[in-house]
Amino acid sequence: MCGILGIVGNVDVAPLIVDALKRLEYRGYDSAGVATLSNGTLDRRRAEGKLVNLQRKLQGAPLGGHIGIGHTRWATHGVPSETNAHPHFSAGVAVVHNGIIENFAELREDLKRDGYGFASQTDTEVVAHLVARELGSGKTALEAVQAALKRLQGAFAFAILFKDDPDLIIAARNGPPLAIGHGKGEMYLGSDAIALAPFTDIITYLEDGDSAAVRRAGMQIYDVDGNPVERRCQRSIGTGYLAEKGNHRHFMEKEIHEQPEVISRTLSHYLDFANDALRPLNLPLDFAGIDRIALSACGTAYLAGLVGKYWFERYARLPVDIDVASEFRYREMPLSRNSMALLISQSGETADTLASLRCCRTQGVPIGAIVNVQESTIARESDVTLPTLAGPEIGVASTKAFTCQLAVLASLVLHAAIQRRTLTPDKARDLIRTLSEVPRYASEVLKLDCKIEKLARTLANYKHVLYLGRDTNFPLAMEGALKLKEISYIHAEGYAAGELKHGPIALIDENMPVIVIAPHDRIFEKTVSNMQEVAARGGKIILITDEKGAARTTIPTLETIMLPDVPEFIAPIVYALPIQMLAYFTAVHTGSDIDQPRNLAKSVTVE
Ligand code: F6R
Repeated sequence: MCGILGIVGNVDVAPLIVDALKRLEYRGYDSAGVATLSNGTLDRRRAEGKLVNLQRKLQGAPLGGHIGIGHTRWATHGVPSETNAHPHFSAGVAVVHNGIIENFAELREDLKRDGYGFASQTDTEVVAHLVARELGSGKTALEAVQAALKRLQGAFAFAILFKDDPDLIIAARNGPPLAIGHGKGEMYLGSDAIALAPFTDIITYLEDGDSAAVRRAGMQIYDVDGNPVERRCQRSIGTGYLAEKGNHRHFMEKEIHEQPEVISRTLSHYLDFANDALRPLNLPLDFAGIDRIALSACGTAYLAGLVGKYWFERYARLPVDIDVASEFRYREMPLSRNSMALLISQSGETADTLASLRCCRTQGVPIGAIVNVQESTIARESDVTLPTLAGPEIGVASTKAFTCQLAVLASLVLHAAIQRRTLTPDKARDLIRTLSEVPRYASEVLKLDCKIEKLARTLANYKHVLYLGRDTNFPLAMEGALKLKEISYIHAEGYAAGELKHGPIALIDENMPVIVIAPHDRIFEKTVSNMQEVAARGGKIILITDEKGAARTTIPTLETIMLPDVPEFIAPIVYALPIQMLAYFTAVHTGSDIDQPRNLAKSVTVE
């Protein structure tokens, strides 16, 4: 969370920094700021709220200077306000920070005893003072930062600007990512390569524990012990994109509509469509020798993993232990020698998922990661990356990344099933063919937008919504609830339909719509019984099903959304679309900020 930007350049950098920060706004958007050094003076502009507020401030009071740092914030310590916005200053030092300094309270007391005053409630301000104190004791800027780093516990990425050196930004990383961009006579620094795309695509990523002195003529990286080190310089892929909404009102709407195309692109990486076969996977293991998968992820990626668990166990007879990564990392689960770890992450930077990966690394098991951002830390640290080719996902609510994660999981399950001989070659071919049909079904479902939009107008009037589903529709019920609450702020819960009578049924009345996700499958009739239980208590049912399902149900519904008849294997991918669309249109009607909902950020790099 929080986006960092820095430029050591040859023209006024403040407008360039603010422009580049727009590409980092997905990391946080509750305040923003920029600091530059001009004629020996450090100056800054900061504003609460989105970048546009900072832009307005800069229009009224421009900042000159050919070197500067900028920040877009997702608050951890201290409310979103101008005072807490970065950059933070101490004598001759300006700091922008992403992450959390866990021992900041203790450091703050120590600095106060030395006479340092604090203007903000942030943990970041201690870093500015620590560096200033070290500088005051006669150290060089680099020595001062390296000495300060030794005092810090937690996860952080910094960019630091010095009043006395108009040719230096010092960067440091321990946890959240930091990319250094190489220009011609200019250098750049950013939380990701996409932010630096307008300037350069030649990138060096800092590794954990690294610090770097970045100057116009180039940079030098130092390892955790302060020794100079070389890190690979690479041409970044995918930085050429420009985040545009096209004809859509929101990125989320655009990304929902991109799904047929990006699912197809992702599937074609794993499937040989022409021969109904799987493409070879570059896995350093054979699923036949694996007896368990430990899967962890967060949020929507976790729910994709939960669908994967049903598939792995059903089709490949391979047990899956699945956890939310924030639990997995601390629950000390022993992994057997024959198990493998599987992580799922759109951003590839989620702190808890990365920590889970590192836990698995200490246990020596092979590590696979389903990742959308190919240059991310999780992609770089896993043994094998299984890419989702969804393209950049800008809307905070994950949509196309989710269905692409499902497409990769389904492909992986078929690999496992073939290697473990749990499917006959004919059945496997049949399922591969079925999987390749997903983009076509997804296009069909998108045509339901008018009907779903109309239903959303009604849904937007409620305060609570319950989602129910069985089997792979249970994770979808939770995903539907997650989508609705995060973008429309309507309280929603997703339950296994069979669990209804064990508690949530107490909530059912005419004010609680119940969305039932129930394609006509093996256990459809069981879900119908649960719908009866809802109807008997005056609950209003919204049924998402297919033609057969609609024909078999006599229970009155508030609305029935009828999808094409879809083979059971791929139903979770296809049924994801109407629940995304329903959440999207409902949020349009509640009038919330769909692409940047309150309190959220796209990339969660803190615990
Ligand atoms: C919900 C959503 C989040 C993310 C979660 C994990 O719509 O987007 O729940 O799925 O923060 O993020 P990644 O996949 O980047 O690890």
